[in-house]
Amino acid sequence: MSAPVVVLVGPMGVGKTTVGELLAQRLGTTCRDTDADIVEAEGRPIGDIFVEDGEEHFRALEAAAVRVALAEHRGVLALGGGSILDEDTRKLLSGLPVVFLDMDVAEAVKRVGLDTARPLLAVNPRRQWRELMEARRPLYTEVARAVVGTEGLTPEDVADAVLDAL
Ligand code: S3P
Repeated sequence: MSAPVVVLVGPMGVGKTTVGELLAQRLGTTCRDTDADIVEAEGRPIGDIFVEDGEEHFRALEAAAVRVALAEHRGVLALGGGSILDEDTRKLLSGLPVVFLDMDVAEAVKRVGLDTARPLLAVNPRRQWRELMEARRPLYTEVARAVVGTEGLTPEDVADAVLDAL
């Protein structure tokens, strides 16, 4: 079975979509983003899905969107930051060229702390970020073939680092 050429995982705001688009240009392919797939299928923003139906419902939609994208897409694939919480998703990622884009707390708060469109960091972003990454870093690391730290790097630099890492 063929598969995506690169799968990007990592926390919200780390630049998966931007870097994914750059990688796709360089590799002569396209970038697909599972958040965008969900928004398109649902016809409403992710924040509305969280508020109206709850996180659990969103996670079920997300797991299904990842499964479909992994089966269909042969280019670069950017996954929503929480998609690795799902055990079946982690199993599906096993053996694929998965890169974990990482960033530290200071960078995260700078990039997403004030973005109310991202429901998981709306209150006390610094503490929420630390807790979120403590819970998730082992899962990102488990699925990743390579880890790329993004602090202080431009998206172009990160794309270079991803290509070097693969
Ligand atoms: C989430 C990350 C977001 C989006 C949702 C939940 C998370 O995706 O799926 O707000 O749990 O980390 P991005 O990582 O693309 O921002």
